[in-house]
Amino acid sequence: MNNFEFKNPTKIIFGKDKIANLAKEIPAKAKILLLYGGGSIKTNGVYDQVLKALSGFEVVEFGGIPANPEYAILMKALQVIKSQKITFLLAVGGGSVIDGTKFLSAAAVYEEETPWNLLTSGKPILKGMPFASVLTLPATGSEMNSGFVLTRKETKEKLAAGGPALYPLFSILDPQVISSIPKNQIANGLADAYTHVLEQYMTYPNDAMLQDRFAESILQTLVEVAPAILKDPSDYNAASNFMWCCTMALNGLIGQGVPQDWAVHMIGHELTAMFGIDHACTLAIIAPSHYRYNIEAKKEKLAQYAERIWGITTGTIDEKAQAGIDKTEEFFHSIGIKTRLSEYTPDYSGAAEKISKRFTARGWLGLGERQKVAPADVAKIVEMCY
Ligand code: NZQ
Ligand code: ZN
Repeated sequence: MNNFEFKNPTKIIFGKDKIANLAKEIPAKAKILLLYGGGSIKTNGVYDQVLKALSGFEVVEFGGIPANPEYAILMKALQVIKSQKITFLLAVGGGSVIDGTKFLSAAAVYEEETPWNLLTSGKPILKGMPFASVLTLPATGSEMNSGFVLTRKETKEKLAAGGPALYPLFSILDPQVISSIPKNQIANGLADAYTHVLEQYMTYPNDAMLQDRFAESILQTLVEVAPAILKDPSDYNAASNFMWCCTMALNGLIGQGVPQDWAVHMIGHELTAMFGIDHACTLAIIAPSHYRYNIEAKKEKLAQYAERIWGITTGTIDEKAQAGIDKTEEFFHSIGIKTRLSEYTPDYSGAAEKISKRFTARGWLGLGERQKVAPADVAKIVEMCY
C-alpha cells in the first residue's frame, strides 16, 4: 500500500425528508444563490421543499445550468454572484449543477481575469466561496468530492479541475428524489459510479486488501441493486443503496494508497465534447476497449475482479481477465447502455485520430496508472470502440 493523507470535510445528511434540515446548516445571514438545472426540480417537488426550508434567508435564483455544465452560461451566474453580493452557493441538482457550482465557488474569489484558466492551469484550487448541495441524481460523487468538469462549447473542450477548497460544506442526500429520474439517467448513474470504482481498482496489485474489498463491495452492491432501481425508482431500499454507492465510489476513500487509472474518463470526456454523448455512456464505450487493449498490464486485477464480482473461478489468469471484461460489457448492456461509438453517432470515423492529436497537443503523453498509455495507444483504443 502506498502512503496517503486523507481528509474529506463534507458533511453528509442522508435520508427521508432531510431537505428540511437545510436552514440549520447554512451560515446565518448568508445571501444565497440557489443554482439548478433545466427544471426537473420544479416538477418533482424538490424546488418547493428547498424554498420552504430557506424561508428565513435572502435567496436569489439561477436556473438553466445544462447537463455537461457550460462555461458561457456559468459566466452569467458569476455576474449575478458579483452584482447581488452573494455569500453562499447552494446547488440543487445532479453532477452538472454541483460541478457548475464548484466552478463558481472558485471563480467568485479568483483574482485573475479569465476564470477558464482555473481549468487549464493544472493548479489545485485553494480558495472558494462556501457552497453546499442538495443532490437530485446519484452518479458522479460530486456531492462529496472536490473535483468538477466543465464544457466549453465554442472550443468543444471538456476539462476537469479541483482542489481542497472545493468540497461542499454539506450535501443532503434524500433517496426519495430518485423516484422522478428517467430510466436512462438512472442507468447512467449506475454506469458512472461503476466506472469510478473501476478507475481506482483496475490497475495492478498493490497489497491494498481493504481498498480492494471496499471497491468490490461497491461494485457488487451496484450490480445487485441495478434491476430493482431500474424497475422501480421509488423503491426506497434500492434507492438508498444506489445513492450511497454512488457517493462512496468517488469520495476519495477507495482510492487512498492505491494506483489509479482515469484514462477511461479522460478519453470519454472527449466523446462528450465532440459528440454530446452522455458522460456515463462514453465510459461504457471506452472501458471495455481500454481493458482489452491493456489486458497484459491489468490482468491480475481483472482476474481478481472476474472471480470476486462475477464468480468466475475456472480458467487461466488470461481467460478470467478476458471473461471479466466481457462481463463488464454485458453489465452495461443489461442496464440498457450501448457500448459502441457507432451506436451513438454516424460521424465517428475521425474520432480516434482527433482525440490522439488533442492529447499530444495538451502534453498528455502517458495516461493510466503507469503513465504508459500514449496518444498512439489512445487512438487504437478509440478505434476498437467504433
Ligand atoms: O437539468 P434538470 O432539469 O434538473 O434535469 C437533469 C438532467 O437533464 C436530470 N435530473 C437530475 N435529477 C433529476 C433529474 N430528472 C428527474 N428527476 C431528478 N431527481 O438528469 C439530467 C442529467 O443531469 P446531470 O447533472 O447532467 O447528470 P450527472 O449527475 O450524471 O452529471 C454529469 C456531469 O458530471 C460530470 C460529468 O462529466 C458531467 O458533466 N462528472 C463529474 C464528476 C465529479 N465532479 O466528480 C465525476 C464524473 O466522472 C463526471 O465527469
Ligand atoms: Zn464519471
